[in-house]
Amino acid sequence: MAKIGDINVGEFPLLLAPMEDVSDPPFRALCKEQGADVVYTEFISSEGLIRDAAKSVMKLDIYEKERPVGIQIFGANLESMLQSVEIVEKSGPDIIDINFGCPVKKVVSKGAGAGILKDIDLMVSLTEAMVKHTKLPVTVKTRLGWDHDSIKIVEVAERLQDVGCQAIAIHGRTRAQMYKGEADWRPIAEVKNNPRMHIPVFGNGDVDSPERAMEMRDKFGLDGAMIGRASIGYPWFFREVKHYFKTGEHLAPPSLQERVDAARRHLQMAIDWKGEKLGVFETRRHYTNYFKGIPHFKEYRMKMVTSDDAADVFAAFDEVEKEFSGYEFA
Ligand SMILES: Cc1cc2nc3c(=O)[nH]c(=O)nc-3n(C[C@H](O)[C@H](O)[C@H](O)COP(=O)(O)O)c2cc1C
Repeated sequence: MAKIGDINVGEFPLLLAPMEDVSDPPFRALCKEQGADVVYTEFISSEGLIRDAAKSVMKLDIYEKERPVGIQIFGANLESMLQSVEIVEKSGPDIIDINFGCPVKKVVSKGAGAGILKDIDLMVSLTEAMVKHTKLPVTVKTRLGWDHDSIKIVEVAERLQDVGCQAIAIHGRTRAQMYKGEADWRPIAEVKNNPRMHIPVFGNGDVDSPERAMEMRDKFGLDGAMIGRASIGYPWFFREVKHYFKTGEHLAPPSLQERVDAARRHLQMAIDWKGEKLGVFETRRHYTNYFKGIPHFKEYRMKMVTSDDAADVFAAFDEVEKEFSGYEFA
């Protein structure tokens, strides 16, 4: 049984990865319904939060039904991080997660995200200060290291644990790799195999099939799998992995009706949460995957992703429902 602080997250939990513009409340709700055991918000800027930047503050919205939920923050300035812990606490999350893995230039250049992998002492002291500043469990999400020649993740994880970090999720790539190549889970298994480690070690990177999730559990011996891209437009991924673990068999893919219903609910929840304009815009990236496999789908997809009017998108869903009813997904 894995535990994050006092929170029991079950046997080999599946965690929805924090993903910018993806892991918002509507999407988290869908993933939760399909079996995600822990969900995370997208990363939120500590500098934005302390300046009350509307966009950052909105990302703090969480709902009872999605618990346990972690709010992820990033930054490199101690004062700003501590102040944002206080702001984050007011939203009542179960976990505060620190992003020490984001590879994008605008974050890294300020020493935040994966930028901190160049200064492990700062990474550890920032974590320690945050742990001391809150009663909530603090977890860390990071990468293997800055680049191939500087991978010290076993030592880093142990130091983070020693200052009170309650779980660590490790993406099996370095910052230098960005998203290229394959994620290497071997160094993550080394972290887990360190006899001094007692906090959960979650693996992340390229879990894109139930078999891969099982490999992470059985071959690499990790405590849970954090899943990102495989869930975009496919929240059923969580239930498919769980079914495979239980039965050793693949669950049939969701029917067309289930997909249309999910797309409708997703869009409606997004509109309710952030208004029509943003709701329509930010749900677009999911549709390709929702309807992946349907031949000659372009015409319908274009209708879904080009109109700013929610009524047009709902009408496209109706058309798809009528046109492809009974379509058998492979
Ligand atoms: C669109 C997108 C946005 C992301 N945003 C975040 C983020 O806000 N915070 C974070 O820690 N990682 C972020 N990531 C990285 C993922 O959490 C994850 O580490 C990475 O995608 C590898 O896992 P996967 O192969 O299962 O997708 C993002 C990834 C994607 C694809």
